[in-house]
Amino acid sequence: MSKNTKLWGGRFRSPLAKSAEAFSASIGYDARLYPQDIMQSIAYAKTLKKAGILAEAETKKIIRGLEEIKRGLDSGRLHFRSEFEDVHMNIEAWLIEKVGEVGKKLHTGRSRNDQVATDLRMYLKWEITETIVLITRLQAAIIDQAEQNISVIMPGYTHLQRAQPVLLAHHLLAYFEMLQRDRERFNQTHERVDVMPLGSGALSGTNFPLDRAYLAKELGFYRISANSMDAVSDRDFVIDYLSAAAVLMMHLSRLADEIIIWSSYEFGFVQISDSFSTGSSLMPQKKNPDVAELVRGKSGRVFGHLVSLLTLMKGLPLTYNRDLQEDKEQLFGSIDTVKSSLSIFSEMIKTIKFNQEVMGKAVKKGYLTATDVVYYLVVQGVPFREAHEIVGKIVNYCEESNMELDYISLNQLKQFSSKFSYDVQRILSAKASVEAKDTIGGTSPKRVKEALKRARAHLLHDKA
Ligand code: ARG
Repeated sequence: MSKNTKLWGGRFRSPLAKSAEAFSASIGYDARLYPQDIMQSIAYAKTLKKAGILAEAETKKIIRGLEEIKRGLDSGRLHFRSEFEDVHMNIEAWLIEKVGEVGKKLHTGRSRNDQVATDLRMYLKWEITETIVLITRLQAAIIDQAEQNISVIMPGYTHLQRAQPVLLAHHLLAYFEMLQRDRERFNQTHERVDVMPLGSGALSGTNFPLDRAYLAKELGFYRISANSMDAVSDRDFVIDYLSAAAVLMMHLSRLADEIIIWSSYEFGFVQISDSFSTGSSLMPQKKNPDVAELVRGKSGRVFGHLVSLLTLMKGLPLTYNRDLQEDKEQLFGSIDTVKSSLSIFSEMIKTIKFNQEVMGKAVKKGYLTATDVVYYLVVQGVPFREAHEIVGKIVNYCEESNMELDYISLNQLKQFSSKFSYDVQRILSAKASVEAKDTIGGTSPKRVKEALKRARAHLLHDKA
C-alpha cells in the first residue's frame, strides 16, 4: 500500500486520487494570499512562544525560515507545488523542509479554517484600501473635468428626453456623489472585515493559552472574533465587499452608458481620445467607445460574483465546510475587475473633450425653459396648474409654427395670458434658467461652484 505524503495523511491508508487532488486544489488561485499567510505565521509563532509552546530559539528558526520562503516567492525562485493543495500547505511544507522538525510545531492550536479566514481578511483589508484610493482618483478626474467646463450648459434629461438646462459640471458632480457613497460603503466594509478569527482553531477554540489580543495587535486587527464557530464559517465580510463592488460597478456602468451615448453621432456631446477608442475591422470610418462598453459589460460578472457567494452560503450548516473554498475566485475576480475598471475609467475621463457648442445648441431646441415660463406666470399670481396649461398651449403653438420659445414675440405671448410683460424675455435663455435653480443642491453656477469646493475639500480631507 502506498504511503500518504499529505501533512494530514496520518489516518489514511491510500493516497488521494490524482483526479481528486486536482479537483480540490486551490493553489492555482489562493497563491496570492502568501504574503498574508507568512505574516500571519510569523505573528502566530511569536504568540506560541508567549504561550510557552515554542522556545526562543525555535521561534527564531521558524521566523527566519518563513522570511526566507517569502524572499524566495517574492523573487520568483520558489514555485508553488500543486500536490500541496493550497497556499497554507505549500508554505508549511517548505518550512518543514527548510528548518526541519521544529517547523512541525508551527501549526499547534491552529487550523486551516481559522488560518484561511484570517488570511482572507488581512488581504481584503489591504484591497479595500486600494479600492478606496482608486475611487478617490476617479472622483478627482471628475472634479477636474467639471472645473474645466464650469460654464458649459447642456440639456438635462428625464426619460432620455430633453427636460431642463443644467450645468455640465452639475451633471458630472452627480457621479461624484455616487462615488462618495461607494467610498462610504467600502469604509464600512473595512470596519467589518477588521476582525481577527485566528485563535478559533478548527471550530471550538484552542487548548493552548494563546494571547489573542497580542496576536491581533501584531496582525493589525482592530477587533477579535467573539465566537469561534461563527469565526471559521463566516463569509459575510466577503459578501459585504461584493455588494459594495456591485453597487460601484452599477454606478460605473451608468457613467459608461452616458459616455457611450454622448459620443454617438446622434448626440455628439463628447469626444473620447483615440487612445481609448478602437476601430472596426470592417468599417474604416468607425471609432468605438470600447473601454466604456467593457466597463458597462463587466458590471455583469461582479453582480454574478455577489449572487454566487450568497448562493454558496445559503443553507450551509456550521461550521467550516469545504464549499467555502469557492469564495476566493469570486472575491478575487471582483477585486480585479473593480480595480482595473476604476483605473481605466480615471484615465479615459481625463481625455474626454466636451463639445460646448453642440451642447449649447442642443439646449436651445426642445423648449427646455418652458418650466421657467410657468414659474414666471406663477410669480405674476397665476396658479401653478393654470400656468402649466397656458405654457403647454404656448409650446404647442411654437411647435406648429416651428420656432423655439425665445423666438416668440411679446404680443404673441400676450394672446395666451395678459400677465406677460417685456421682462419675460430675460427668463427664456438657458443661462437664466440655470441661474434661477439656486436652492441647495440646484444647478445654479453659484451652487455648483460651492459643490465643487466641497467635493475638493472632501478629497483632501479623506486623503489626510
Ligand atoms: N483551501 C481551503 C479553503 O480555502 C483552506 C481550508 C481547508 N480546511 C480544511 N479543513 N480542509 O477553504
